[in-house]
Amino acid sequence: MTQCSKLDVNLRQMIIAIETAVSLVGMNDTNHGKRVGYIASQLGQQLGFSDEEIQFLFDLGLLHDCGVSTEQMHAHIVNHFDWCDAHIHCEIGYRLLKDFEPLCAFAVPILYHHTPWEKLNKLNVSMLDARMANLIFLADRIDVLAATHYESDILFAKEEIVKSITHYKGTYFDPKIVHAFHQVERSEAFWIALESRHITRYTWDMSQFKNNRLISLAQLKQLSSIMAYIVDQKSPFTAQHSQGVASLAHYIASSLGLLDEQCDKIEVAGLLHDLGKLHVPDNILGKPGPLNEIERAIMNQHSYETYEILRHINGLEDIACWAAFHHEGLNGLGYPFHPQKQELSVEARIVAVADIFQALVQDRPYRKGMQLDEVIDILDGFVKSGKLDGDIVKHAKQHAAVCFEIAQGSRK
Ligand SMILES: [Fe+2]
Ligand SMILES: [Fe+2]
Ligand SMILES: [Fe+2]
Repeated sequence: MTQCSKLDVNLRQMIIAIETAVSLVGMNDTNHGKRVGYIASQLGQQLGFSDEEIQFLFDLGLLHDCGVSTEQMHAHIVNHFDWCDAHIHCEIGYRLLKDFEPLCAFAVPILYHHTPWEKLNKLNVSMLDARMANLIFLADRIDVLAATHYESDILFAKEEIVKSITHYKGTYFDPKIVHAFHQVERSEAFWIALESRHITRYTWDMSQFKNNRLISLAQLKQLSSIMAYIVDQKSPFTAQHSQGVASLAHYIASSLGLLDEQCDKIEVAGLLHDLGKLHVPDNILGKPGPLNEIERAIMNQHSYETYEILRHINGLEDIACWAAFHHEGLNGLGYPFHPQKQELSVEARIVAVADIFQALVQDRPYRKGMQLDEVIDILDGFVKSGKLDGDIVKHAKQHAAVCFEIAQGSRK
């Protein structure tokens, strides 16, 4: 496959992967985007939207918070009906998607998904985008108000929720959308469907919807860069880490003589390898010292989370494994799957070396980035202990200066 060849991927499955990654930020509430998508699509149906627009609303709900990487931002979203910095995650989400052709139609509604209707309808935004944005705003606020009542007294609490939403009719929300909400909310099924068991099932059904698109490998890299940006944003200490690992892995693979297609896919695995870190609390990721045993136990779940996010995307099965195996050792002492040595492909081994190399070069909360000789000493130690592949490390050492520059981000 060359840069021009296309991958047949299900775009909905990729969108669900983005939502799954972003929803890990809140730790305890992993279905916000799914519920917002469900609520918005139900309201769209009531408003007489076309099937295509209803599908769009579900995806928009899944994507609407893609600008949220930190728990602090997530806490605001969950705990406040409105707050002055709400626009920040809207703008980040907009910027992430606006230049990515397969998802660029979602950018404008995301930009305005916290803009009150009375302001929004005076802006130079198409009526359809404004309505999509406001539907998401309303769905989002319903979910925030309802969140503590799922699995318990939601049918009792719904009356108060309806009252709160109605209070903002004409100011925060388009009266037509509020009217549609009044129609939809009468059905108990609408509310019960929001419970975790049901919404997860519903999303699974929606993931089977035939929404396949041929995307180029270049577009896959662009999408993976978006996802890498979301995770790298989580902490100043991980900024550029995924991008650095990806570039370094690509360089090592290419200088080892692997095929272009393989190198590009390894780069994608590098971009995606730490997606599961969105699940790690900010205070552990940014701790200015070594992790204790409990914190380490929490941190060590992240590569499994990466696997869970990626494994549902048809066509990316191999990349999901290379990404998720980045902490596995050839000696079986890594985590979390402990594959046999022969199950660790050259692609996975390259990503593992690139991950350690880049992390050592980068500043961490508890130490400065290391110099090349220190990095080499540590890599040699890992070869000796049987963790890393000796041939790949030897190769990286032969190109040590270039690898170091790439890991530092000073060479493109
Ligand atoms: Fe939200
Ligand atoms: Fe990792
Ligand atoms: Fe990493």
